[in-house]
Amino acid sequence: MITWGISAASHNAALSVFEDGELLFASESERFSKIKNDADLHPSLIEYAHVIGGKPDLICWYEKPWLKSVRQFFAGQGFINNNIKEYLKKYDIDAPIKTYKHHYTHASAGYFTSQFDNACVIVIDAIGEFETLTIWHAEGNKLTRLYGLSYPESLGLFYSAMTQRCGLKANEEEYILMGMSAFGDPKVLYKDINKDFIIFPHPESYNPVLFKENLHRGCNWWRPDLTSEIDMFNIAAATQKIYSQAFRRILEFARQMCSSDNLVLAGGCALNCVANPIAYDYFDNVWIMPAPGDNGSAIGAVLAHEKKHLENFNPYLGVSIKGKTTNHEIVDYLIKNKICGLARGPAEFGPRALGNRSLIADPRDPTIKDRVNEIKNRESFRPFAPAILEEHANDYFVMPSSKSPYMQFVVQCRNPNLFPAIVHVDGTSRVQTVGKNDNPEFRKLLEIWYAKTGCPMLLNTSLNIKGQPMVNNIVDSFEWSKTYGLPVFN
Ligand SMILES: [Fe+2]
Repeated sequence: MITWGISAASHNAALSVFEDGELLFASESERFSKIKNDADLHPSLIEYAHVIGGKPDLICWYEKPWLKSVRQFFAGQGFINNNIKEYLKKYDIDAPIKTYKHHYTHASAGYFTSQFDNACVIVIDAIGEFETLTIWHAEGNKLTRLYGLSYPESLGLFYSAMTQRCGLKANEEEYILMGMSAFGDPKVLYKDINKDFIIFPHPESYNPVLFKENLHRGCNWWRPDLTSEIDMFNIAAATQKIYSQAFRRILEFARQMCSSDNLVLAGGCALNCVANPIAYDYFDNVWIMPAPGDNGSAIGAVLAHEKKHLENFNPYLGVSIKGKTTNHEIVDYLIKNKICGLARGPAEFGPRALGNRSLIADPRDPTIKDRVNEIKNRESFRPFAPAILEEHANDYFVMPSSKSPYMQFVVQCRNPNLFPAIVHVDGTSRVQTVGKNDNPEFRKLLEIWYAKTGCPMLLNTSLNIKGQPMVNNIVDSFEWSKTYGLPVFN
């Protein structure tokens, strides 16, 4: 039985292929269309899914289209007919369709990819059909919803509105706002933003956080006097501070409702890796799947249907490139030249390059940050991440847990001066730990690098041509190499 999970027609479309409950493939549409966060399915993605498992017998869709239409009508967007049968017909997909609620597919994506047999699950995003924040108790194969906050109250919409207020793209560039936050002074605008937008109810009341404005259409009207670059950094810093404060409230609230010591975080806001470490103040174990946003719900929709944990889940689920260069050859090149591309094995599912579609470099070299920024042609304030052998992570970073395999936690670097390429202005890094079972080839490469240099980490950033999504196939890999005049090792 072939089941496809689909999340599409909103933003960052994705598709997963399952055979008899086993996850065979998952990828975002953007990797095929080359349009970042492509909202729609792409014919080449469908074709690839057919090659993997033939025609689907069942489609699991990541939200309830009619309920979304009701919300869109309620939000003043008029009647939008979210007819997914017609939508899928355009791609010649005519299998039976099952739909599951947006936050349920987020929660399922999180919980059923975890190793936990019980957990508290918190889903925070911009909007599902109506829901924007839900808290669940998961036990065995059952998810029970304990709490829900609905549109227009939304912490995700608040963060997106502030992203837009800083001249960035809402629903896409929230991660840039997060990076900017380290450059601003949160005190400058905290009181103003808090007063104009946020309600923190009494800790014993029924909601952890509420909002004074419906931020669905942004807040570009707010404080037109703030226009300079430093103003934007200060907005980012205050926004991040308020987000973290609200997140702490939500964690306290969830802890009171749910007795489990395990936490699953899901929804697009689970990508807020600056705030995520706070979760360890309340829970012993924290799991965030590598694609907690709507793309991950392409997997979550099928898991919501199957109601079963995935065994040995890993994020290497996409188009595969056959490796041919040895790790010794790659390390020897890196020692001499400091920087190269790496595109081998199945592509990562989710926003982070985790060693299979990566630009890697020597994190100790003070010139590397500028060189990588030049290649990526991106804002100089944005940090790069390190990938480190798991057993060394705590020697170099203040880790809240021994594992952080998907770069989801920003932590303090213990010796920022020694690793100028991977440390942000505030001395932090978004660490990827690479354990023995995480990605065997990448792990071997790091082990050889460590043996030859004494440094257990490499800079690891996504391999993409400026403005495009990550490299997907071997043709993209050649194209990248040609564009930047650097080798990409397969
Ligand atoms: Fe969502």
